[in-house]
Amino acid sequence: MAEGTGPRLLAISDLHVAYEANRAIVEGLRPGSEEDWLIVAGDVGEILADVEWVLRLLSERFAKVIWTPGNHELWTPQSDPVTLRGEHRYRRLVEICRALGVATPEDPYPVWRGPGGPVTIAPLFVLYDYSFRLPGQLTKKEALARAYETGVVCTDEFHLHPDPHPSREEWCDVRIAETERLLAARDASLPTILVSHWPLVREPTAVLRYPEFALWCGTERTADWHRRYNAVTAVYGHLHIPRTTWYDGVRFEEVSLGYPREWERRQGPPGRFRQILPAEDDR
Ligand SMILES: [Fe+2]
Ligand SMILES: [Fe+2]
Repeated sequence: MAEGTGPRLLAISDLHVAYEANRAIVEGLRPGSEEDWLIVAGDVGEILADVEWVLRLLSERFAKVIWTPGNHELWTPQSDPVTLRGEHRYRRLVEICRALGVATPEDPYPVWRGPGGPVTIAPLFVLYDYSFRLPGQLTKKEALARAYETGVVCTDEFHLHPDPHPSREEWCDVRIAETERLLAARDASLPTILVSHWPLVREPTAVLRYPEFALWCGTERTADWHRRYNAVTAVYGHLHIPRTTWYDGVRFEEVSLGYPREWERRQGPPGRFRQILPAEDDR
């Protein structure tokens, strides 16, 4: 353990290791203490072998790794020999994680008992349902038509297959029901850290450069989850806009690394973890 460093709960997302420069950053990711836990909030990569490589490396370095899928893990790219789609692909990812001892949304929620704990860490997979529409857009159809007109269309439309669900929003509907069931069954005496690739509330999407992209960023149906499930912090990624914001007194942490063209413009070295616990004011 590094001197003066106690156990910490850290987080990162959007490692996007299809980029060689990001792969090099991942190789350099190390805990400050052998007792550190790491949350990986989705978008590790698209190729299943890449995702497995990253999670294996991190699970060998951290005492515990908690993963939830991003949209990129759920794509079925032509370059991947694994051709599983949708739900089947997600289940394969869960099997890969379980073999490595990495916690997934399908496993019992781990409890952090280090500084700032005890707190339940709940990795959530709820997807999105096109409800983050712009003012005046009443339906998904209308909102998508506008997105196609402006040329702002998420690649999920072509690579994220919902099989066997009829659509991505119907898959989201199933995930919400299942996730609400799991959250209701948690130990209600403990606060939570809610981890989802997509933000649980809509507000963070207000700063998107292309507002139409919000369609692929979440669902209105999770807007009160941070209050309903007693969250101390919500961890998310997907937007590639790392920052801390507060809603209803709950800390929201966007923890993404992002693409090289994005992190190259930021101050400081890329690939720094966000410290979730202990929180600054607990130390
Ligand atoms: Fe991403
Ligand atoms: Fe994403």
